[in-house]
Amino acid sequence: MLHEKTCSAMANLVRVLVMIVIMSGVRFIIIGADGLDMNYYLASCPFVEPIVKDTVNRALQNDPTLAAALLRMHFHDCFIQGCDGSVLIDSTKGNTAEKDSPANLSLRGYEIIDDIKEQVEQQCPGVVSCADILAMAARDAVFFQAGGPVYDIPKGRKDGRRSRIEDTINLPAPTLNASQLIRMFAQHGFTAQQMVALSGGHTLGVARCSSFKNRLNKADPALDSEFAKTLSKTCRGGDNSEQPFDPTRNDFDNLYYNALLRKNGVLTSDQTLYSNPTTRNFVNGYALNQAMFFFDFQQAMVKMSLLDVKDDGEVRENCRKIN
Ligand code: HEM
Ligand SMILES: *[C@@H]1O[C@H](CO)[C@@H](O)[C@H](O)[C@H]1NC(C)=O
Ligand SMILES: *[C@@H]1O[C@H](CO)[C@@H](O)[C@H](O)[C@H]1NC(C)=O
Repeated sequence: MLHEKTCSAMANLVRVLVMIVIMSGVRFIIIGADGLDMNYYLASCPFVEPIVKDTVNRALQNDPTLAAALLRMHFHDCFIQGCDGSVLIDSTKGNTAEKDSPANLSLRGYEIIDDIKEQVEQQCPGVVSCADILAMAARDAVFFQAGGPVYDIPKGRKDGRRSRIEDTINLPAPTLNASQLIRMFAQHGFTAQQMVALSGGHTLGVARCSSFKNRLNKADPALDSEFAKTLSKTCRGGDNSEQPFDPTRNDFDNLYYNALLRKNGVLTSDQTLYSNPTTRNFVNGYALNQAMFFFDFQQAMVKMSLLDVKDDGEVRENCRKIN
């Protein structure tokens, strides 16, 4: 009995030590990357964090579905030209921007970023980039509003000056299979496991019929027959009808993975994670152990937030316009 207790205490100690080593390793790499820093705005704009947090909280109390919108917007920003706020730019006469691509389907929440930017500009004009605001807003939406994992991100991203519709071909299509997804995410330095953890972002939000109708009206052993009827019913409302990815669209939890176990994945790119033997292991793990999902998601999100970060960009005055 005593022996058992000592053993589990030892095991816990070892676990804590391993965590500390991993965390300090992550911190070390982060501070080294492109001059980014956890405390980047400590002196130059000390209240930026509470402004982001309060504005996100207020907006999401009115409309909790915007948590999904902010998370997805951050993902799209980072996968095209790096996390440089390019997804926020409006089209102009001579340029069709990323946000007007069909891949923008249902991107929303630009007003929250504008609102934060206005407040921040009043306190410390020309200091905080739009890319940083978006990264912080997505983080706060996941944690404060949706009950997901907490993570801090280094700040100091600069805003890019390019936003072109043609670059959005670099976003993953919902029709891809697991090997294609693994390859695409590997191009950004992610492992297959990190790709599966990031796909867990689909614990929030919805897909429209146009994103999954390719799966209907044909035999698909990877799609539960009852769930196929649910999807068809959703599509009777038209291309823009919404289907939640899991039963709790506003809660950040591991029910997305549990849905995949039941063949209730909405997109081809969701269900394929369970069909593929490599990625299936991770799906099973996250479906069983939410803490493990949260831990891996949080680490992968920090990594995503550092994709191709620029130090030669600008700090946009208005997030919708290049200076
Ligand atoms: C693995 C490759 C991925 C593919 C193929 C994919 C594709 C899609 C598609 C097609 C939609 C629905 C769009 C619509 O019909 O309106 C969607 C929604 C969403 N995606 Fe992804 N996505 C992927 C990865 C990610 C990642 C890494 C994140 C964030 C970490 C993410 C976050 C979201 C969220 C939160 C929504 C819901 C948006 C809302 O309800 O407003 N996705 N995704
Ligand atoms: C997304 O792109 C479509 C064109 O494909 C455009 O009509 C729509 O306004 C865009 N949505 C947003 C939120 O910018
Ligand atoms: C995935 O898709 C690619 C391209 O369509 C195809 O070559 C490959 O065989 C598919 N893999 C599986 C396991 O279905």
